[in-house]
Amino acid sequence: MPEQASPVVLRFEKVSLAFEDVRALDEVSLEIRRGETCILLGSAGSGKTVLLKTALGLLRPDRGRVEVFGQDITRMRESQLFDIRARIGILFQEGGLFDSLTIEENVAYPLVNQKLLRVPPEEVRKRVEQALEFVELEHTLEKYPSELSGGMRRRVGIARALVTDPPLLLYDSPTAGLDPITACTIITLIIKGRDVRRATTVMATHRYQDGTWLDEFRYNPKSGRLEPAGSDGQPGLSGTKFMVLRQGKLVFEGSRAELEACQDPYVAKFVKR
Ligand SMILES: Nc1ncnc2c1ncn2[C@@H]1O[C@H](COP(=O)(O)OP(=O)(O)OP(=O)(O)O)[C@@H](O)[C@H]1O
Ligand SMILES: [Mg+2]
Repeated sequence: MPEQASPVVLRFEKVSLAFEDVRALDEVSLEIRRGETCILLGSAGSGKTVLLKTALGLLRPDRGRVEVFGQDITRMRESQLFDIRARIGILFQEGGLFDSLTIEENVAYPLVNQKLLRVPPEEVRKRVEQALEFVELEHTLEKYPSELSGGMRRRVGIARALVTDPPLLLYDSPTAGLDPITACTIITLIIKGRDVRRATTVMATHRYQDGTWLDEFRYNPKSGRLEPAGSDGQPGLSGTKFMVLRQGKLVFEGSRAELEACQDPYVAKFVKR
């Protein structure tokens, strides 16, 4: 399998992180390779957000080691971390848009603030428009986040995550609190964002269905539609890996088939049968 040979994009080695008496991450070890899709499941408070923030270097582990793009970021200086973060797109759980900035300024933020990217000012507007077109919100440039619906804000967050064209995308509970139709739109955009650029994609969620869609569908740029993976004669872009966190511990890691066959009651409760 070619994916065996692809480089590791994100590696945790026995990573632990506690907040006073809460073990948010408890000796978590994992490896995500280039082109893979990883679905991170776990109930509320199991450590999904902490794991993603640790991958970004926003939180520092108490013990263990974190590698991103082959570089050890565990004790990396903030200035170097900026360069790593320039290659990661993130949709924060609460959206993370700046209320006092317009939609245009919000989406431009990573382009303007990450020196490594060196985007000329005349390029910025074009890239922002393209990213907003991608999520079908090009008409909202001048608006403020408070003028948009929750689902629209989430789409702006996706545009901001994609605007730098990053090789690694992290989505934190992207469908939480959305109605099923809007949730479907969001997942479609995540699949499209993954498949257009072949980006490694990690998504935290408590909705198993979100994960199965990422596993089952791929975006066909020719037709502009989602299609069942492998339907055009090509194998799916990459494997989808499922992981389950429980109280900071990684209690399951494997394929969808392995997840669906898992007898552990905590793991099984995420799977709709
Ligand atoms: N800044 C913090 N200070 C103190 N405790 C924290 C902090 N951030 C997270 N925690 C604790 O760490 C644990 C893991 O939190 P985390 O936010 O990662 O959960 P989660 O899996 O993302 O949950 P949810 O599904 O509700 O988003 C929780 O017990 C939480 O209360
Ligand atoms: Mg969370």
